[in-house]
This record gives sequence, structure tokens and C-alpha cells, in this order.
Amino acid sequence: MALFIAFEGGEGSGKSTQAKALYRRFLNADIPVILTHEPGGTALGEEVRCWLKGEEEMKISAWAELLLFAACRSQLVAEVLRPNLATGVMVICDRYADSTIAYQGYGRGIDLDTIQTINGVATQGLVPDVVILVDVPVEIGLARRKTAKLDRFEKEGVSFHHRVRQGYLQLAAAAPQRWLVVDALLSEAEIEQAVWEKVAQLLE
Ligand code: TYD
Repeated sequence: MALFIAFEGGEGSGKSTQAKALYRRFLNADIPVILTHEPGGTALGEEVRCWLKGEEEMKISAWAELLLFAACRSQLVAEVLRPNLATGVMVICDRYADSTIAYQGYGRGIDLDTIQTINGVATQGLVPDVVILVDVPVEIGLARRKTAKLDRFEKEGVSFHHRVRQGYLQLAAAAPQRWLVVDALLSEAEIEQAVWEKVAQLLE
């Protein structure tokens, strides 16, 4: 059975590096796999990603933002995730539905029931087999990003990012069998090993 593995984390957590490392591990083991990301991963998603990241100056309300993330997800699920999983290809996704709960729910304050409903529409019930949360203290994560040009989310205040982090930790605590929380302050090799151990368990 093909696994669906999502990586989650706040700004500067290093989760994208870890998603790539896991992708390489699968390739080295000759296991068919794709690596994709949100928002993006489809032609529609990449277009909308530019709006969401604030690369073009335009107003986006919190509700519009929620629906744009959902639209990207809906397209990714239909075009990329389900077809690959159906043919036995492992899927690694850098961010997925839990990002919306953490950022638009805990971060922006949209009620969680509404987010769950919209996530349900976007995913049509496709839930990751495991979610890897690379957990980084907010100040450290934001400092790692200091030199890059800041996007709409990186420009948010520290309290926004604290809410996002607490949201992720609550989600992980509520479903410990489906979530793996790894400390972003460990070395890259240590994190990679912890992730691989979890995935190897699921592969057995
Ligand atoms: P990206 O450059 O992909 O950030 P990262 O490297 O941190 O993954 O930018 C995506 C931004 O969009 C990131 O700040 C998190 C935010 N986001 C949401 O607010 N809600 C969502 O549902 C998703 C998928 C991302």
C-alpha cells in the first residue's frame, strides 16, 4: 500500500529539507515516490501560490485566503495525490490540510469547525497516513528566515506564529499515533533518522 506522508511546521522549521531527504531515501530504496508541496504542485496551485505569498500586491481577506488554499488543495488531491496513491506511488507532501488548521484556524482565528468542513470538501476525505511535525521555537524559526524577502505569512507578528505553533502541537497531541513530532533543533541527520524510523514502521 502506498503511503501518504505530510510534513508540517512553522516558518524556518527545516521541514522542506526533511521532505527532500525522505524523498531521496525512497528513491535510493527503489520505492516509487513523488514529492509535492502546498500551496502549489499543479498549474493552478502554482498560479494561486503567487497570490497567496503576496508576490503581487493585492488584498486577500482571511476568508478568501482560506478558500484559495482549499482550491489549491482540491486540485492537488484530484490531479496529483489520488492518481499517484492509486497506482502504488508513495506521496510526500510539504504542507497539507493541517497547515490550514494551524495558520487560518489557530493563526487567523477562523473557527475550527468551518476549517474542518472546508478541508473535508478540498480533500474529499484524503488524510495522510502520517504527519511529521518539525517543531521549531518561533523566534528561532523566524530568525532563520531573516535575510530572505518576507512573504505575507512571514510578515505576521510573533504572536500569530506562536498561535500557529500551539495549534500544531495541539493537533499532534490529539492524534499521537498519526503524528510524529520532531525537534527542529536536532541535527538534520538526527531528524532524518527519526523520520525514517517512523516511516519504516509503517512500511512493515
Ligand atoms: P512556503 O514558501 O511554501 O513556506 P514554507 O517553506 O514555510 O512551507 O509558503 C507557504 C506559506 O503559506 C507558509 O507561510 C504557510 C502558509 N500556508 C497557510 O497559511 N495555509 C495553508 O493551508 C498552507 C498550505 C500554507
